[in-house]
Amino acid sequence: MNPLLGSDIRSMAQRSVLCWLATADASGQPNVTPKEIFAILDDEHIVVANIASPGSAKNIRANAKVCLSFIDVFAQKGYKVLGVATEAKPTDAEYARWVEPLRAMAGERFPIHSVFVVRATAVEPILAPSYLLYPAETSEAMQIASALRVYGVRRAGEDGF
Ligand SMILES: Cc1cc2nc3c(=O)[nH]c(=O)nc-3n(C[C@H](O)[C@H](O)[C@H](O)COP(=O)(O)O)c2cc1C
Repeated sequence: MNPLLGSDIRSMAQRSVLCWLATADASGQPNVTPKEIFAILDDEHIVVANIASPGSAKNIRANAKVCLSFIDVFAQKGYKVLGVATEAKPTDAEYARWVEPLRAMAGERFPIHSVFVVRATAVEPILAPSYLLYPAETSEAMQIASALRVYGVRRAGEDGF
């Protein structure tokens, strides 16, 4: 059986600079905020550093259901991961395993208070509508060129940049 978090999803997570973590409180009120320090740990777990996220932590304690999405903004594609989360604290037995991939990303300047451990239950691709509506005339290279124009940026190495 294919793993939920396979190699395509891993490489997309690495290409996406950040993810968006959606949580909800006990009443169902949604909350969504960006998290840059995140990693796919294994075939079913994503770990997210709690550096400045008291709202997400509170929600996860009240309601374990989360949704985490990330996209490559240039290729305009990514993934949505549904799952259940727990908050792992430094005193927890398995904490070293959860925090390990995040420490180097956060560095010394950004202390990690705890780790949101998301166990994936379902994964869905996210695609810009052009890929779906106009497949014959849409390629990843064209989407990237268009996004570079929209964001007003050039890639290193282009035009002597
Ligand atoms: C680009 C960007 C990246 C961020 N990355 C993280 C992160 O990895 N971990 C974290 O705890 N907060 C991160 N933050 C800060 C949280 O998104 C921010 O403190 C937010 O208000 C937390 O909301 P919450 O308490 O509802 O989770 C980031 C913010 C931005 C703008």
